[in-house]
Amino acid sequence: MSEICRLENVEKYYLAQKRGFIDALVGVPKIFVKALDGVTISIPRDKVVAIVGESGSGKTTMGKVFTTLEVPTKGEAYFEGKKIQKQTYSDVRKNVDMVFQNPATSLNPKMKVKSIVLEPLLNISNDRKKELLAEAKSRSMTYEALLYKKVEEVIEQVGLSYKEVKDKQARELSGGQVQRVAVAKSLIKRPELLILDEPTSALDESVQAQVLNILVDLQSQYKLTYVFITHNILVAKYISDFIVVLYAGKVVEYGQTNDVLAKPLHPYTQLLLSSVPTTSVKDVKPPVGDVPSLINLPSGCRFHPRCPFVMEKCKSEDPPLINYGNYQVACWLYE
Ligand SMILES: Nc1ncnc2c1ncn2[C@@H]1O[C@H](COP(=O)(O)OP(=O)(O)O)[C@@H](O)[C@H]1O
Ligand code: SF4
Ligand SMILES: [Mg+2]
Repeated sequence: MSEICRLENVEKYYLAQKRGFIDALVGVPKIFVKALDGVTISIPRDKVVAIVGESGSGKTTMGKVFTTLEVPTKGEAYFEGKKIQKQTYSDVRKNVDMVFQNPATSLNPKMKVKSIVLEPLLNISNDRKKELLAEAKSRSMTYEALLYKKVEEVIEQVGLSYKEVKDKQARELSGGQVQRVAVAKSLIKRPELLILDEPTSALDESVQAQVLNILVDLQSQYKLTYVFITHNILVAKYISDFIVVLYAGKVVEYGQTNDVLAKPLHPYTQLLLSSVPTTSVKDVKPPVGDVPSLINLPSGCRFHPRCPFVMEKCKSEDPPLINYGNYQVACWLYE
């Protein structure tokens, strides 16, 4: 399986609070939120990888690192074998795009749908422009007419009627329609990797299913790689080939979706799955106990205060992520 991108020992620490000049002068220590705390992960090409974990576990931060929206404090991110750094940002941004949970806040509410989706085509590489000019010629169209044809095609592909929505403003659309417009706006860039950050969780259940189906179709049609962030295990089961379980900024389990759901290895994954309802699509209830503070993490295994299998060693030693059969798991039960 070829890899599209990877993180190596990535840490992303945010300053928990702003420090004033006086604080710095009198030596008030900096306090950090450890949103990602040593994440190593490889994302396979043309597959769907679901990232699951409770709120605050670092899922969005991980997505942002892949898209260059966040820069790791430590460690490295790679895209197609090349280290992501300033010199490669433009290449990464051409090929990686992110769809956010609440597109109403990421799309301009007053802009017309056709202009929203057209916008990325106004800022393309010379190579892509040459391609489009050649296509316009072969289709006997003006360049401008071709661009709007592309907008029409992609809007229809996400299941909307171009005629109906093209002149509407984003604020006139329903939540499901807005999310489809956001997906169309990403697709028109022809990314290879799409990070979908809880793209359906703000939608009604029936609309969620429609949008998920469209995403599944688009993934196989365009041979896209998805990193699909969700806190809904049933959504992950439906859409993904692989599941990554994040806990407090760390990967605790990674495996094929069928394996992980049939036989979860990590005690945290087991607890997450034990609360999955079987009859309807519902969110996973987190296991009992509080999510640890990312400012002051528990010693040893960060899950130890909530773990039913805790051993003495777990309280002082942090288990590394190891290969275990077809899985990767970070837990002393599998050493
Ligand atoms: N820009 C930021 N500044 C400070 N803390 C942040 C910032 N972004 C995220 N965090 C913190 O990092 C942690 C992980 O956040 P996030 O990646 O959004 O988690 P998730 O998507 O799993 O809910 C949270 O505690 C969050 O408050
Ligand atoms: S390392 Fe110990 S505390 Fe952590 S999940 Fe495994 S058994 Fe539980
Ligand atoms: Mg998030």
